[in-house]
Amino acid sequence: MTEGLPGHVAIIMDGNGRWAAARGLSRTRGHAAGVESVRVVTRTCAKKGLRQLTLYAFSEENWKRPKREVELLMRLLRRFLVRERPEIMENDIRLTAIGRLHRLPADVRRELEKTREMSEGNRGMVLNLALSYGGRQELLDACRAIAHRVRAGELEPDEITEETITAHLYQPDMPPPDLLIRTAGEMRFSNFLLWQISYTELHVTPSCWPEFREEHLDEAFESYARRVRKFGGLVPGTASG
Ligand code: IPE
Ligand code: IPE
Ligand code: MG
Repeated sequence: MTEGLPGHVAIIMDGNGRWAAARGLSRTRGHAAGVESVRVVTRTCAKKGLRQLTLYAFSEENWKRPKREVELLMRLLRRFLVRERPEIMENDIRLTAIGRLHRLPADVRRELEKTREMSEGNRGMVLNLALSYGGRQELLDACRAIAHRVRAGELEPDEITEETITAHLYQPDMPPPDLLIRTAGEMRFSNFLLWQISYTELHVTPSCWPEFREEHLDEAFESYARRVRKFGGLVPGTASG
């Protein structure tokens, strides 16, 4: 299935804790099982021919969680970045990241940079990890950068356009997501890609992230293929009268 396939898919990978609790397991086990879903979903999306997959792995607000849980998540992230290198290279995937990456522990930053550099020349799917990411913080950081340029006399306030803002986001070349999937049923955005999702199609599934597999992905893609995207305009051919 490639017809009507979204080019850029973003996923809010939620429900690791609930998946574990429902099975009498620790949250740790839920997060570990979530890593397996990341692996499977990434490989599947690359094989299906998606251009980009953006995964919400850790939000700016997730730093509020207990220290032990944050440490575990960082450990899992570092391990993922190291262990997935062969898979990333085999599938021609290019790894990128968005967020306040300077807040990540030094060892995580190091492995992230290594994997990013190693995969820089790959031309297949872009795997973009949102790490220490917040949509409001991204807009705030963009506003600050633009204000500095105005103060330096490089830009007039009236010259600021939507393109200026996009150009100051963490990944200026990132296309907006065509489809946003959220697992575990919550009907909210939780500070994800606020600028970029203005016309993104939304798909919420009750399945928790650790159980999310190709069949759930196909369900989301089938739903997407049935959508009529109008971007505020009219469906072509309905403008008469
Ligand atoms: C998503 O699962 C993983 C992260 C946010 C890092 P949660 O840990 O939020 O799982 P629930 O929402 O408690 O079930
Ligand atoms: C969103 O999930 C963040 C990630 C998936 C990384 P949360 O579990 O943090 O969101 P809330 O707290 O339910 O809104
Ligand atoms: Mg959650």
